[in-house]
Parts: sequence; structure tokens; C-alpha cells
Amino acid sequence: MDGFKKRLSESVQLRLSVTLSLAILIVAILAGIFAFVSAFDEAHEMQDATLRQVAVLFDRQHMTLQYPEGQISDSDDDDDESRLVIQYLADSSKASGNNDDVTPLPFPTTLADGLSTVTVGGEAFRVLVKTTARGERIAVAQETGARDKDARESAWRSLLPFLILFPVLLLVVGDLVRKLFRPIATLSSEIDQRTEQELHPVDESHLPTEIRPFVVAINRLLERVANTLDTQRRFVADAAHELRSPLTALSLQAERLAAADMSPQAHERLAPLRRGIERGRNLIDQLLTLAKVQSDSSTPISPVSVHDVYRQVLEDLLPLADIKHLDIGVEGTQDIQVLIDETDLMTLIKNLVDNAIRYTPEGGRIDLSVVMDQGAARLQIKDSGPGIALEERARVFDPFYRSLGTDEAGSGLGLSIVQAIAQRTGARIDLGFTDEVEHRGLSVSVWLRVASKPSL
Ligand SMILES: Nc1ncnc2c1ncn2[C@@H]1O[C@H](COP(=O)(O)OP(=O)(O)O)[C@@H](O)[C@H]1O
Ligand SMILES: [Mg+2]
Repeated sequence: MDGFKKRLSESVQLRLSVTLSLAILIVAILAGIFAFVSAFDEAHEMQDATLRQVAVLFDRQHMTLQYPEGQISDSDDDDDESRLVIQYLADSSKASGNNDDVTPLPFPTTLADGLSTVTVGGEAFRVLVKTTARGERIAVAQETGARDKDARESAWRSLLPFLILFPVLLLVVGDLVRKLFRPIATLSSEIDQRTEQELHPVDESHLPTEIRPFVVAINRLLERVANTLDTQRRFVADAAHELRSPLTALSLQAERLAAADMSPQAHERLAPLRRGIERGRNLIDQLLTLAKVQSDSSTPISPVSVHDVYRQVLEDLLPLADIKHLDIGVEGTQDIQVLIDETDLMTLIKNLVDNAIRYTPEGGRIDLSVVMDQGAARLQIKDSGPGIALEERARVFDPFYRSLGTDEAGSGLGLSIVQAIAQRTGARIDLGFTDEVEHRGLSVSVWLRVASKPSL
């Protein structure tokens, strides 16, 4: 019960439904009581009218009465119970006192003209006494029990419309309230489905005026957040850009120093310095790339040949692979044209192949392939390295995240760049094992939209 109260105080929808339902219930009960009572009274009035009509008819037709001797009436019979009794009032004194069996009934002969309720032999009767034109006093009577039963039946029938109307109204109210609140549910699911990059304003035109100010405020907040993010990205890009020139100069200086005459000791110390400078340059390049793929979201999209991109990436990275004696190549001959910005695809594939080369041990194998899968192009880069453990897969996409225990130089930005490109182009990325049984080797799948179906 406490839980319900809490929900009631928290939910406007529930409060509205419950309040309206209670209001309908109260109105239905009051209207039902009123209808029942008035139908009951009306039935009694009609029964009285019947008594009067019978009396008038009797008088007008100048009828006379004869009581069949020893007539037995079966008091258990329903029809008999609601019967009308008509008799001369003067004959009441002849009655045996047992009204169940024999007419006439023992009404007091002193009864005044008009309607009254009389109890004879333990049973109540509604009696109409009338003096006819011939001067006889007649009594038309009916058992009150039977009258009440009939009246109750017709009163219950008058409740039928309420019994139908009540559930119908409840359903209508429930449905109406749910429909009124649907825009809010739609709104929240729309916002829930957005990625962090989708900070465009929420369309408020189709929303009820009550929610609109709230959505307008959210839109203003989204705009401020987008601006802040933009400023931050620009700062990172500007900083990386500014750092690039001095580092390039530094690297040139180190190169010249290497060519100069100096002691073997100095030479030895120069090597790690140059590697450090190279790592710094690489980090800054990756930072610039990340800032770039995260910022401009409207790059033109054109059909790109996957095999062309594979070839260019392999040309760039083959020297690295050769050093480690890796068997690297493209599997299959069928090329597919995909819809994506060519530079984006180059950057994406280059980062994935670079990882494969770095993390695959000497003499390993790397396969690039592209196939049609469920109406999309599935690009796959498989290596024979250690792979990425299931529990680590969500984290490797975080900027600057690097697995512990890797000796490889790196920035930790490669997979963040890959994910940023996937997010803005709508590509899907999936990590798996090359060897699912042994849990070894990383297999990265990238699903891209196809430009044209490959000719078979
Ligand atoms: N092909 C791969 N095989 C094994 N581990 C990988 C592979 N690719 C990426 N990883 C893991 O994911 C981490 C993040 O990769 P990435 O973002 O490219 O950064 P970086 O390569 O600079 O370390 C790497 O440090 C590595 O541990
Ligand atoms: Mg990397």
C-alpha cells in the first residue's frame, strides 16, 4: 500500500487516472441509488394505479362477485402471489381468517375509501376500498410482498445502464490519460536513443504546450553543451597543431645531431631521445586525427572501393609488417563499393591494421577481407595475436586506454579514432576472436553501407 501511495504521489498519470476513476465511481453510485429509488417508487405508483383501474372497471361494468366454494390457492405459486384480490368489503366478516386458502380475505369492514396497507393473517396487503355507484363497498387488494418483489426487479433493471456505462467510462478515461502522456514517453525514448554526438535540438512542434517549455529549456542546455564540447575539441586540435611545429623542428635537430661527430656514448644516448621525439609526434598526429574526426560531421559521402583502400593501407604499413615477418594480405577477390568518406575509411582501416601489426608476434598472420553480410558490407581484419579479452572490450575504445603489459609504443587513441569514425558514419564495429575456441587473435568486423551491389 505504501508503494502504491508513493507511486501515486510521484506519477501525475496515475493520480489523474485514479482521481477520475474515483469521481466516475462516486457519480455512478449516487446516480445508481437515485435511479433505483425512483424506479422502485414508480413501480409502486403503477401498482396503485392498477388497483384503481380494476376498481373503476368493476364499477363501470356493473360486475358482481361470486366466491367459488373451497377454492384453494397455492401460495407458493409466483403468479398467484402477485394476483389481485377483489371482494365486497362486507364479505370480509365471512372469511375464515386463513387468507391462504379461501376468499374472501378478512379485511376490517371499517376501512375508509382509498388506499391503505392492512395486515391480515400475518400478511401485509395494499388495499383500495371503493364505494360503487350501486352503493357496494369493494376492496381491491394485492400482497405487499409480491408488489415489493416486482418493484425491486424493475428497480434493478434501471441500474443496467450504469453497470454498462461505468466500465466503458473507466476504459475511456484510462485510454485517454495514457494517450495524453504518450508524447513524454516518445520524447524520452528519442533522447535515450541518441549517441553523445547527437546534440541537435529536440523537435518540439508536435508536443503539447504543457511540455514545450521544458523541452525548450532542454534544447537550450543541449546547445550550451554542444558549444562547450566544440570549444574543447577546438582547443585540443589547436594545441596539437601548435605542438606539431616545435616537435618537427626538434626532430630535425635530432637528425642533424645524429649526423654530427660525437662520442659513441653520446650516440647511444641520442637514440632513445629520437624515439621519444617520434612517439611525441605520433601522439600529436593521433590527437589531431581524433579532434578532426570528432568535429566536422558533414563530410561528403561517395562510393569507395574497399580493395583500393586495403591496397593503399598495405603499401603504407608493409615496411612495419616486414620487420616482424608477418604474412599480411587481402583474402578473396571480390571487391565491394561502400558509402563513406574515403579519408575516413583510410584512417579507420589504417588504425586497425596498425594495431594488428603491432600486437601480432613475429611470424604471425594478418588477413583483410570484405564480404556481403545481411545487406551490408562486412570488412574484417583478423590477426593471430593475443586478441582482446571479453572483459576488456568495452574499455579499449576509451581514449588513452592501453592494455597493461604491452611493450608496444602507442598513444591509446587508435581505437577511439576508429569508434569516432564509426559513430559519425553510422558504421557498426564488432570485436571477436580469430580463433573462437582457443580465444586467440583479434578479429575486428566493420559493417558499412553498400554503394552498389557487387556484380556476380
Ligand atoms: N589487434 C590487437 N591485438 C591485441 N590487442 C589489441 C589489438 N588492437 C588493440 N589492442 C589493445 O587495445 C588497446 C587500445 O588500442 P589503441 O586504441 O589502438 O591504442 P594503442 O594501439 O595506441 O595502444 C591497445 O593498447 C591493445 O592493448
Ligand atoms: Mg593502436
